Parts: sequence; C-alpha cells; structure tokens
Amino acid sequence: MGARPSGRAPFFVLRQCYDRRMTKIRRIAVNTGGGDAPGLNAVIRAVVLAAERHRWDVVGITDGYDGLFGNEGLVRLDRRAVRGITHQGGTILGTTNRGNPLKYPTTGPDGTITYVDRSREVVAALAEHGIDALIAIGGDGSLAIAHTLAQMGVKLVGVPKTIDNDLAATSFTFGFTTAVETATDAIDKLHSTAEAHERVMVVELMGRHAGWIALFAGLAGTADVILIPEIPYEIDSVCRKIEARYAEGRKFAVVVVAEGAYPKGGQPLFKQTGGGQRRLGGMAGVVAHEIQARTGRETRDLVLGHLQRGGGPNSYDRLLALRFGAAAVRFIAEGQFGTMVALVPPDVRAVPLGEAIAKTKLVPLDGDVIATARAMGISLGD
Ligand code: F6P
Repeated sequence: MGARPSGRAPFFVLRQCYDRRMTKIRRIAVNTGGGDAPGLNAVIRAVVLAAERHRWDVVGITDGYDGLFGNEGLVRLDRRAVRGITHQGGTILGTTNRGNPLKYPTTGPDGTITYVDRSREVVAALAEHGIDALIAIGGDGSLAIAHTLAQMGVKLVGVPKTIDNDLAATSFTFGFTTAVETATDAIDKLHSTAEAHERVMVVELMGRHAGWIALFAGLAGTADVILIPEIPYEIDSVCRKIEARYAEGRKFAVVVVAEGAYPKGGQPLFKQTGGGQRRLGGMAGVVAHEIQARTGRETRDLVLGHLQRGGGPNSYDRLLALRFGAAAVRFIAEGQFGTMVALVPPDVRAVPLGEAIAKTKLVPLDGDVIATARAMGISLGD
C-alpha cells in the first residue's frame, strides 16, 4: 500500500532540504593543524573527491591557519592536485603547531613575543575568499580552535588526527596504528641486540599524557615492562621483574616507557625546545639509569621520537582517513556544523565538537588490553 512508516520521516526530510538550502555550499576549505600523522593526505584526497561530486570548489589552507594571513596561502585542490597521495606521509598542505590564531605568536620591535587573538581575521579571511565551510583536520589543540571558530559562526566539521589516539568521542584516530607498527618494529629489533649483549634496553615512545602507543606496541612487541602515564610506576617493581627474568635464564629485557610516564609521587619530565615551548621527554633515560644502578645490569636507553609520525599510513589508517574525509563532506552537505567525525564502530558519526575536546582519552585501567598485558606477565610497574 506504500504507507509511510511514521509521521516523522517527511518532516525530517523537509528539515534536511531546508538546512541544505540555507547552507548553499559552493566552496569549502580544508586545513591540517598540529603535529602531522600518517593519513592526512588520504583525508585531503577523500575530501576533494567527495566534494567534487557535489560540484563544490575545494581550497587548501597551507600551514594550519597561517595560509589565511599570507598572500599565497590558499591552493586550489582538484582531483589532479590530490592524485596519488593516499599512501603518502606528511601533508601536502603543510602544518604547524605554533600557529594558533587564538594566541598567535607575534614578535615586537624589541624582540619580545606576545600572543595575539587573530580569530576575527580568520573569520573575515574565510568570508573574503568565499569559503562557505571548513574541514579542520587536527588534534585536540586544532579542534579546540575549530570549536571556537564554530562558536563565532564558521560552518565547519572537524576531523580527528593524532598518533596519540587521545581524543575522546572516537574509538581511534588515524595515524595511531601506523605509529604502533613503527614502534612494534623497533621493539622487535631491540630484542635481538638486547639478547646478544645480555642488556636491558629501555625505549621511550610518544603519546603525550596517554599510554596508548606504549601499551599497544609494548604488548604487540612482547616487552617485559610497559610504563604508561595512567599507572605511575614504582622502580622497585620494575627491577623485580627484570631480576626475575635473569633468574629464569632470560638474560635480557626490553622496557617500554611512554614519554608521559612518571614514578609514583613524581611528575612527568619535560624538556625545553625552541621558542620557549616544552615537550615531554627524557623518562627512558631516568628509568635506564635507575635500573642499572639498582640491578647492576648493563642498560641502554633510546628515544624513538618522530619516526613514529613519519612514513605513509598503513592500510587501516588509510581506510579510516578516507572514511573520515568522505564523512566530513557528507556532514557538511547535511548541515551538521560544529561537529567532529568520529569512529563509533561500525560507523563514522558526527559528534559535537565540544564533547570531543572536553577531555583527554586515557587508557582505561579496567579495559581488556591492560588485562591482556597482565595476563601475559608483563609488568606495568605497579
Ligand atoms: O601529538 C603528537 C606528538 O607526536 C606527541 O606524541 C609528542 O609529544 C609531540 O607530538 C611532539 O611534538 P613536536 O612535533 O612539536 O616535537
């Protein structure tokens, strides 16, 4: 009989048509902000190809928002511009983690740096360039900027990116599993040299204040000890695990330390980098020193560093990035602004940006990955 399933559907359809008409998208922009992550180029390609199907123009803003302040900071993106980039690392648009338009570093005549709010300039520049909507690809910092711009009236959709996997509201961010693969490969290689020299090898992995990379790579690489920020460690417990291994005749050990890990009653370690910024780092050196001093076992430490961000995305991250890019275009077409695309298995959904940036997603201590590590006899330092 062709009866309507309910009275609500037609209203919903009408509402969507109304939103679309109101939105009148003709040109969108895309930018990449913060630290790079494998998969950024795949998102850009998906955005461009999906937008073409709506006959929208796409422009790329170079170097985060910096491109809006410079003369040649916008690039036309068509299918030719994004050909063959799905598998490439980095970002064809460039990125920066020093170009926050809400606190833009500006050097005065006497050399002092002050921080200026240039958000109105961003809004004005977007309007001036006829940009109807923005797809902002970034981590928590870039998405917080996007949230503010959305509150100022910019029509935008955020795409979560970070190797750290520390963004709430999405199960995974693209770039994470590629970083885990790189780190796992490093741990595998450390095993053979550790065994050959009967040494303890301590490797520091990225992740900021979350232990996702360290836990996943440490578990996959069968480390003996994994120290993560979510579980402040006791060095005696770490040393006990190492001594137990040597006593069993396994005369080497591999210890994974998340860069944000710290001892019980202590604090994470920071090092100064250029421009007065500070970055987490150095805890592997401290842990290695303590292990050697307490056990007398020859110990070496290394920091894997930016290798974890380099290279092309693995197939999982490529796919996730393509899904996120296509979904961002879909959500713009539906008028779902002020949102972030999120992986909520098995779907990609639009979630409010405010919800996504509200808190850092830490490793749940009651989750099955922690339980698996414990079941494998791995010491988590507690
Ligand atoms: O957020 C990604 C990340 O690689 C972190 O894991 C790390 O702490 C930080 O960025 C390093 O930042 P930078 O590239 O500025 O050294």
